[in-house]
Amino acid sequence: MSLLWSVVDAIWFFLPAMLPNTSAAIFGGGPALDFGAMWKGRRVLGDGKTWKGLAVGIASGVLLGYLEGVVALPAGAPLAHVYPLSLSILPALLALSAGSMLGDIAGAFVKRRRGLERGASVPILDQYDFAAGALLLVYLASPAAAVRFLFGGEALAGLAVVLLIIYPLHRLINYIGYRKGLKSVPW
Ligand code: CTP
Ligand code: MG
Repeated sequence: MSLLWSVVDAIWFFLPAMLPNTSAAIFGGGPALDFGAMWKGRRVLGDGKTWKGLAVGIASGVLLGYLEGVVALPAGAPLAHVYPLSLSILPALLALSAGSMLGDIAGAFVKRRRGLERGASVPILDQYDFAAGALLLVYLASPAAAVRFLFGGEALAGLAVVLLIIYPLHRLINYIGYRKGLKSVPW
């Protein structure tokens, strides 16, 4: 397989990890994950991490994976092998979606421990916390797929491109969210 297709596969495979945080920003709200609990004088996670955001985020990622399966279905579509319409892709989709949300939650936990309020900017952590969570969980839950599409041989070129794309994409989407009033800060 050509290097270009490895890159396309990696992006296609990782898309379900890219959507959950945006869905959470659009549809989140309500009770906080930490229910307001404090630890050493600071919120455990803060009001920016909610149950609704978590649930909607995970659901949206799984749904996107199956939608990708439908889109790629037409016979011969080169991407059909990444997400075939089968229950077998569910562990990877759950891991990518939940890992993405958990990574973001871990990022908020770290920010609160450093005394930073909700929305405070921490470059690199803000852009990559979700990706780190998703990569870790998908490797644990679906090692074969993770190696095939992200961590093995030519797929590593795909992983590199995914990681390169994430930074400007995250900045752009958050800026749009800020302009549309979904987020109080542009990062
Ligand atoms: N969100 C949510 N539930 C989640 C994650 C995100 O409701 N589990 C929503 C919140 O409204 C949050 C917004 O998505 O404000 C954007 O998420 P993010 O930028 O990660 O949060 P911040 O407000 O910047 O807060 P933090 O400093 O805790 O990351
Ligand atoms: Mg965040």
